[in-house]
Amino acid sequence: MCRTCSLFNTRTNAVPGDGSSVLKAMLVGEAPGRSEDQLGTPFVGKAGKILDNILRTTGINRSQLYITNIVKCRPPHNRKPKSIEVMACRMYLNREIAVLKPRIIGLMGRTAYSTLIGGNGFSSSRGQILEINGQSYFITFHPAAAIYNKTIKESLRIDFTKLAFELGLK
Ligand code: URA
Repeated sequence: MCRTCSLFNTRTNAVPGDGSSVLKAMLVGEAPGRSEDQLGTPFVGKAGKILDNILRTTGINRSQLYITNIVKCRPPHNRKPKSIEVMACRMYLNREIAVLKPRIIGLMGRTAYSTLIGGNGFSSSRGQILEINGQSYFITFHPAAAIYNKTIKESLRIDFTKLAFELGLK
């Protein structure tokens, strides 16, 4: 049971990544929310339903992807993870990447972008597939941003269609 940062005090379950390496693609979100904390599985709440819907409509099978988060425990009241928590949890993400050796890492939202790529280039990179130090990254919005925003949902659909092409699914 990890106690590296203080999120262990308030979590119900740690939420490790979930899925498979069939497509050699990994999607990275921010942090577990309430449903994920209850069930111990990433992206099973509202944002997860949006993600599932987008994956389904773009022809990507969720069970063939590996889905994880920057931090594995829910921050209280779904606040953004603090940088000390991101740093403490980084070893798990590094291990996931080292074991899976993903061909492409999908960064969903600014927290995933700034943690793995750094800087403020999220908006200008969104929708693109970038090659950095020999690793491909697919940059898109966090699915939660589409909960009340149809334009973002449409952008997610366009971005994930691009990913489906990149993975040879279309
Ligand atoms: N938001 C995330 O970033 N991750 C989850 O697992 C659920 C919601």
